[in-house]
Amino acid sequence: MARVVLGMLGLGTVGSGVVELLAKHRHVTLKKIAVKDINKVRTTEFSCPLTTNVNDIIDDPEIEVLVEVMGGENPTLSYLEQAIKKRKHIVTANKEVLAKHGPHLFALAKEHGVTIFFEASVAGGVPLLSTIHKGLEANEISSIVGILNGTTNFILSSMEAGKSYEEALAEAQALGFAEADPTADVDGFDVAYKLSVLSALAHRHFVKPETIYREGIRTITKEDMALAKEFGYRIKLLGTAGKRDEKGKEIFDVRVHPTLVPLEHPLASVSGSNNGILVKGHAVGELTLIGPGAGKLPTASAVVGDLMNLAGALKLPDFASYFQPVIEASPASATPPDEWKCPFYLRLVVNDTPGVIGKLGTIFGANDVSIATIIQRDAQDKEATIVILTHDVLGRNMNQAIEELKKSDFLKTFGNAFRIFRSA
Ligand SMILES: NC(=O)c1ccc[n+]([C@@H]2O[C@H](COP(=O)([O-])OP(=O)(O)OC[C@H]3O[C@@H](n4cnc5c(N)ncnc54)[C@H](OP(=O)(O)O)[C@@H]3O)[C@@H](O)[C@H]2O)c1
Repeated sequence: MARVVLGMLGLGTVGSGVVELLAKHRHVTLKKIAVKDINKVRTTEFSCPLTTNVNDIIDDPEIEVLVEVMGGENPTLSYLEQAIKKRKHIVTANKEVLAKHGPHLFALAKEHGVTIFFEASVAGGVPLLSTIHKGLEANEISSIVGILNGTTNFILSSMEAGKSYEEALAEAQALGFAEADPTADVDGFDVAYKLSVLSALAHRHFVKPETIYREGIRTITKEDMALAKEFGYRIKLLGTAGKRDEKGKEIFDVRVHPTLVPLEHPLASVSGSNNGILVKGHAVGELTLIGPGAGKLPTASAVVGDLMNLAGALKLPDFASYFQPVIEASPASATPPDEWKCPFYLRLVVNDTPGVIGKLGTIFGANDVSIATIIQRDAQDKEATIVILTHDVLGRNMNQAIEELKKSDFLKTFGNAFRIFRSA
C-alpha cells in the first residue's frame, strides 16, 4: 500500500481515537493536526505538530487527505471547500455540514476530482453507509428506520428503568454521553442531519434538514414509558428515511419522533447508547444492524476504515468515481407529517364525570380517528387518566382531533400523543 500523508482538523473525542488507531498503520503519516486551543492539556500521545492555523494544513502540498473531526457548520464548511479546491480528499465525521451543504460539497469534489468519505457521520462504529452504498447496491431501498442517537437511547433506557427524564439526562451528562447543552440530541437535530445523509445515499438526494419533521424526547414521562410497556411497546426515538413514487412524484418520508415500538421488534431491544438500524431493500428484504453509534474508538474505527479504503486506491488512476455515490445536485424536501398514516398513543387527564368518554368519541369520530383501545386509570380527586390507542389515522386528522380536545371543557391536562410503529 502506498504511503499516505494526512492532515487532521480536531483532536477531541474522535480525533484522539483516530490518532490511537493510526499508530498501528505505518503507511499512513499524520503530518499536522489543527486544534482550537494549543495550550490545552492532551491525554492522547501524538508525534506530529499541532497548529491553530488551519492553512498550515490546507496549503501543505504534501498532504493528500484532510481528516475533518472538528465538527459544526462554520468555519468547517469553508475549510472543507478550500481543501477540496486544493485537490485534497476528505474524510469527515460531520453530519451537520453534510446535511446542510452536501450537494454543494459533493459537486465541488466532483469538479476537482476528489472524494468525500463520511462513514463516521452516521451511526458511529456501525458500518451502515458502506453497507448501503456498496453492499446493497443491487437494491432499491424503500426505507431506513432506526435509532440513530445513542444519547437519547441511553436516556430512554434509563427512564424505562424508573428514572425521570431529568434524572436520566443528568446521568447521561455525568457519564459523558450527553453534552452540557443537550439540544442537538434531545430535540432530534442530530438525527435529522443523519437522515439527510442517509437519504443522499439511499435515495440520491440530501433532504433539506429544515423540512424534516422533528419531535424530541423532552416531553416523555416515566408514566408514558410504563404505559407503553403495559400495552406491549417500548418508546424509542426513531428516525425514518423513506422514499416512494406516487403518481410519478417522488415522496420523501423523512422524520424523527418518539415512537412506540412493539417489544418483539428488533429495534425495541436496542438498549443503552447503542444504535440500531433497519434497512429495507427490494431484493434483500429487511436487514438490521446494531452497534455502538458514537464514542472515541467506535467512531474512529469508521474514520480509519475510510482512510484504509482511500489509501488502498489513492495511487490508482481515476478512482474517485468508484467511491463517490451518485447524489443529485438538488436537495429534496421532506413531506409534511399531515400526510402519514399510522396508529397513535394518547395520554390525557380528564374530569372524572359521566359522559366524558362519549364526548371524546364524538371528537374522534368527527375527525376520522378510530379508537382501538381505551382505558381509564387513577380516578381520584374528580380526575382520571385516559389512555387511548388508535387505529391508523392521518397525521392531519389526529392533529385536528387534538386541537379540538385541547379546547374541550372536560380536558384537564393534555399528556402526550406519540406515533406507534408501522412497518413502511
Ligand atoms: N463524539 C462522538 O462520539 C461522535 C460520533 C460520531 C460523529 N461525531 C462527529 O465527529 C466530529 C467531532 O466530534 P468530537 O466529539 O470529537 O468533538 P470534540 O470532542 O468537541 O472535538 C472537537 C475538536 O475540534 C477542535 N476545533 C474546534 N474548533 C476548531 C477550530 N475553529 N479550528 C481548529 N480546531 C477546532 C477542538 O480543538 P480543542 O481540542 O483545542 O478544543 C477539538 O480538538 C463532529 O462532527 C461530531 O458530530 C462524533
